[in-house]
Amino acid sequence: MIYLNGKFLPIEQAYIPVLDRGFIFGDGVYEVIPVYSRKPFRLTDHLSRLQHSLDGIRLKNPHSDEQWRELLEQVIACNEGEDQYLYLHITRGVAKRDHAFPVGISPTIFIMSNPLPAPPPEMLQKGIPAITARDNRWGRCDIKAISLLPNVLLRQLAIDSGAMETILLRDGYLTEGAASNIFIVKNHVLLTPPKSHLMLPGITYDVVLELAQGHAIPYEIRAVSEQEIRLADEILLTSSTKEVMPIVSLDGKPVGTGEPGPIYKQLSQCYQQYKA
Ligand code: PDD
Repeated sequence: MIYLNGKFLPIEQAYIPVLDRGFIFGDGVYEVIPVYSRKPFRLTDHLSRLQHSLDGIRLKNPHSDEQWRELLEQVIACNEGEDQYLYLHITRGVAKRDHAFPVGISPTIFIMSNPLPAPPPEMLQKGIPAITARDNRWGRCDIKAISLLPNVLLRQLAIDSGAMETILLRDGYLTEGAASNIFIVKNHVLLTPPKSHLMLPGITYDVVLELAQGHAIPYEIRAVSEQEIRLADEILLTSSTKEVMPIVSLDGKPVGTGEPGPIYKQLSQCYQQYKA
């Protein structure tokens, strides 16, 4: 069962008018929230990022945090599975096609739940390949906008070359992955770029930094150059659905030893304990 504009219905019965501005302009924002043992993970953080995205596109939040919590609880309750991920999507609504904001319309609100399978053990044990590409997205990548065409094209570049993620470089510096945040390890220090308009402020990114802090793993939040990525001892990817994953090859060359490294192993273990 999904939630659409005040109703719970089977997904096959959920329809959106073709003039929805999400469909016409990609005019909307979204969130992806993991649910472990039927409890949403870091929900306060996801709701505050949702507010940030809505502010970024100048769309009034249709609900209070309390109302969101209740709605999400209801969606979780009418879906099976201990671990799920919630996809929450808000568009500016339905109106005659005109770029300017329409007056007096209601936003479209859609929430669905999908099963959240644990990342395949083989990927965690052996690691995954990634490629690099120029980050050609707009200047507000901190907004979790539903208009994801650049991310879609960039991620597909990885798939086309047999890799799993595309690491994005802007002006010679790391921004993030096409659908993830990126950390590197050099000389036992975890490095990641500071939050800015050029990357999505990942919730998993925050968790990993908190875990590093709590477990005395040295880390620095600073600009990371292309050369540093290419010479990294380890590269890690983080996202709500992939958690923490080791990247073991970059553009066809091994990262460090070519196997998941010790900092990845420590952080991944901490993450599993933390989310339990
Ligand atoms: N994407 N950067 C981008 C561009 C992303 O799309 C994502 C996640 C992240 C990681 O953010 P978080 O840790 O809060 O999931 C970073 C989600 C999972 C998606 O679009 O499906």
